[in-house]
This record gives sequence, C-alpha cells and structure tokens, in this order.
Amino acid sequence: MTATLTILGLESSCDDTAAAVLRLVDGVPHILSSIVQGQSDLHADFGGIVPEIAARAHAEKLDICVQQALDKADIGLDALDAVAVTAGPGLIGGVLSGVMCAKGIAAARGLPLVGVNHLAGHALTPRLTHGLAYPYLMLLVSGGHCQFLLVEGCDRFTRLGGTIDDAPGEAFDKTARLLGLPQPGGPVVEHTAKDGDARRFTFPRPLLDRPGCDLSFSGLKTALLRERDRIVAEKSGLTRKDRADLCAGFQRAVSDVLAEKSRRALSAATGCSAFCVAGGVAANATIRAALEQVAAEHGTEFIAPPLALCTDNAAMIAHAGAELFLSGHRDDMTLAARPRWPLDRQSPSILGGGKRGAKA
Ligand code: KG4
Ligand code: ZN
Repeated sequence: MTATLTILGLESSCDDTAAAVLRLVDGVPHILSSIVQGQSDLHADFGGIVPEIAARAHAEKLDICVQQALDKADIGLDALDAVAVTAGPGLIGGVLSGVMCAKGIAAARGLPLVGVNHLAGHALTPRLTHGLAYPYLMLLVSGGHCQFLLVEGCDRFTRLGGTIDDAPGEAFDKTARLLGLPQPGGPVVEHTAKDGDARRFTFPRPLLDRPGCDLSFSGLKTALLRERDRIVAEKSGLTRKDRADLCAGFQRAVSDVLAEKSRRALSAATGCSAFCVAGGVAANATIRAALEQVAAEHGTEFIAPPLALCTDNAAMIAHAGAELFLSGHRDDMTLAARPRWPLDRQSPSILGGGKRGAKA
C-alpha cells in the first residue's frame, strides 16, 4: 500500500510571501505547487526592506498565496494532513502573519501544526531536490544568512561558523548602492563585474588571517567605499570601467573568502556525503565555480539546488515540516513566532542583525 502525506507550507519571514503543497509518496517528496510573491516593488523607494510594509503585505497576500497553492495542486484543504509554517528567525511582523495564518487553517480543519526554522528549510533542501543522505555540509549564503552547517538530521545541526556582521548578499546590495546601481545588487554587480579587472584594486580578505570558519563582510564594503571616494575625488566621477573594476574586485574578494572558509569547513566536517550551497548568492557564477572547485579539490560532491529552491520559498518549509512531522514533532496553538532562533543550540547567536532581520 502506498503511504502518502500531503502538507501545506507557509513562508513569510523576509520579503517573500510563499505557500506550497508538498506530497510525500512512500517517503519521496513531490512539489505539487510552489507560489512565491515577492515585495521588491513595495520596498524599492526605501533602499532596503521596511519591516512594517513587509508585515502588512504578508498579511494581505498569505491567504491569496494559500488559495493559489491549493488550486495549482488541484486539491482542497480537506486533502491536507498537516500545516507547516516558518516560525522564525526573521522579521517578527512577517513571521507572526505566517504563524497566525497557519494556526487559523490548522484550527479550522483540525490539522496538526508544525513550526519550522527558516534556516532548517534551506539546510534540508538538498534532501528535497537530490534525496541526499545525512550527514552533509551546507553553506547558506543569502541576503540575510551566511553560515556553515553540518547537517546530521532534520533537527540536528552544528554551526561550524558564520558571518560576524553582514551577510554576503547584503554586502552585494550595499556595493550596488554605493556605485549607484539598482537593487537587488547581487545580479547587477555580477553583470557589471563581467568586463572588470579584478586585480586593479586590492580589497581585503577579512578574517582569513584567523583560524576557524567565521566570516566578515562589512570591512570589504568600507574598503570599496574608500576606493570609490578616492576615484571620485581624483576624477569627479566614476567611469563605466571604474565601476566594472570595483565590482570585479569586490566579487573576487567575496569569492576568495567563501572558498577558503569552505575549505576549512570541509576539513572540519568529516564524513560528509556532499558540500551543498543554498541562498540567493549561490546564483553568482564566480562564487559557485569557486565553491565547486573547493569541493572537487576535497573529493566531495557539490550540490546546488535549482535557484527557485535556493532562494526563499515555501516548498522547503513544507518539506522540512514533513521531515519533522514524520519524526514525531507536533506544535499546538501555543507556537510562538521567534525573530531569533539559532539552529544550533550549542552555538552562541551570531552577532550581526542586518537590514533583512535577525540572522539567528
Ligand atoms: O535567498 P535570497 O533570495 O533572500 C534572502 O536574502 O533570504 O537572497 C537574496 C540575496 C540578495 O542580497 C541578492 O543581492 C543576492 O541574494 N543575490 C546575488 C546574486 N543573485 C542574488 N548575489 C550575488 N550574485 C548574484 N548573482
Ligand atoms: Zn532565506
């Protein structure tokens, strides 16, 4: 007899409102639908995410996303076996919107509720996309997160290191802002860097002189600001070539730092079946190639889920929720929204809490 589990996932911890339906058939996950509604247009005039605007937009869009996810999956609420929701970490207003919506559905339909850590959603994605076995090493690199995780189970994570200030995506976004380029900065900086000379400017490689896997990106941004101001003072403006060289130098520095710290994390995490990456910054071809090279040097398989599942989405929350559900985890109406929620309870919280919210 086939055993199926159909689970609705909700995600609203940052600036994407998302709902998805996932069905496990004999333990194999199938994404029946995955709806993501971004909010970048709402925040465009403010140079960053405005938590109050984000929270209101989530509250307005969540039920629409849920209906779209059910329609696309061609099922009704009666076909669901459970509801999974991001309960943190993230911007509190958004997380609260998602948790309240999930509680409403669970209470109305008498369904089990599972609160999911957003970072666990990202960290478990290679199991959804590649059926990867535990343990494996995960590098999470996005606008809000940057950490190395040894993943040993759906609730067993060891953080080997992380950023002590900005996340790399945040640094790409700030770089774009400093150079008068549009947001989100990552893709634009990558595109601008294509014609650039990465050797023209000497940017620092922060924390490489210290042991361990912690990272830092805010000094890099300051170095870029200094070079920009120097050029502007000399020539009263930036040429296209200046911008391209600055972007290329910055991107190379981020890539070098991530590669070297990945080397160290791989050495520290023995017995891993693969080195995985997730988060928007994983879309960067230079960074991806550098990480792939590190994995190859180490003789470890490199896995990067497709971009739509690398960035924020609800399918990963439904999937993590399904794994937790099957391991016996249940929440109830006391489930709290947690702006900070470190995955690894042994580690101290990461210090930085940038524009995109708490990094746990
Ligand atoms: O994972 P994501 O969609 O959202 C969260 O931050 O949670 O990641 C978005 C971040 C942004 O900071 C964006 O600038 C960065 O990922 N990003 C990139 C690239 N594409 C997106 N950074 C570098 N190169 C890219 N090609
Ligand atoms: Zn995320």
